[in-house]
Amino acid sequence: MATSRRDKADSYTQRAHREGYPARSVYKLEEINQTHHLIKPGDSVLDVGAAPGSWTLFTHRELIKGKGKIIAVDLNPLRLDPVPPTVTAFVGDAFSKEIRAKLVENGPYDCIISDAAPMTTGNRTVDTTRSEWLAEQVVFLATEQLKEHGNLVIKIFQGGGQESVLKTMRTIFTKAKAFKPKACRDDSFEIYLIGLDKKAQA
Ligand SMILES: C[S@@+](CC[C@H](N)C(=O)[O-])C[C@H]1O[C@@H](n2cnc3c(N)ncnc32)[C@H](O)[C@@H]1O
Repeated sequence: MATSRRDKADSYTQRAHREGYPARSVYKLEEINQTHHLIKPGDSVLDVGAAPGSWTLFTHRELIKGKGKIIAVDLNPLRLDPVPPTVTAFVGDAFSKEIRAKLVENGPYDCIISDAAPMTTGNRTVDTTRSEWLAEQVVFLATEQLKEHGNLVIKIFQGGGQESVLKTMRTIFTKAKAFKPKACRDDSFEIYLIGLDKKAQA
């Protein structure tokens, strides 16, 4: 029997609950890393838009394997108890002057991961425009705070703007591509842009 969209969503949610993750989004990062090898044990990772904390916890447990460090930033606090020892969390706008200074103080990073998303309004044009703005800000952060050979993954709502963000990423990374993990809901218009191996001169 075919698995329905919602059955699939529920199975990911239930699995996240069983495995101690606050959100099903963890399986998107799992697949992204399995296919693109962004993060290795001991890396220094910046997680932008980290709350409630599934990507942060997965990175701690499975990717850096308790070594290295994770700087997690979000408008909202993480819902992780306890907060893993490799994690330093900041609450606030990742692109404000104050938080940005903290991110710079803790950088540069081997990898920047961003699942950041705007509050959705239901108006597709407004939502995609805001998502594109967030994605552009993270790419700009990567030009400054990602080490040479570093990797980047960002979420963006599909609406046309992803091609221009990808074009910019191709000037910064040896390889840049769009990727849609199976764990994304079938009806979701989100996609992930992946930049691999930051160039020396970027
Ligand atoms: C889909 S959630 C991230 C889920 C997270 N990756 C996880 O696995 O638990 C998107 C997050 O982006 C955050 N966000 C949106 N704009 C932001 C900004 N300017 N600065 C920091 N966080 C932001 C939201 O507060 C929200 O928590």
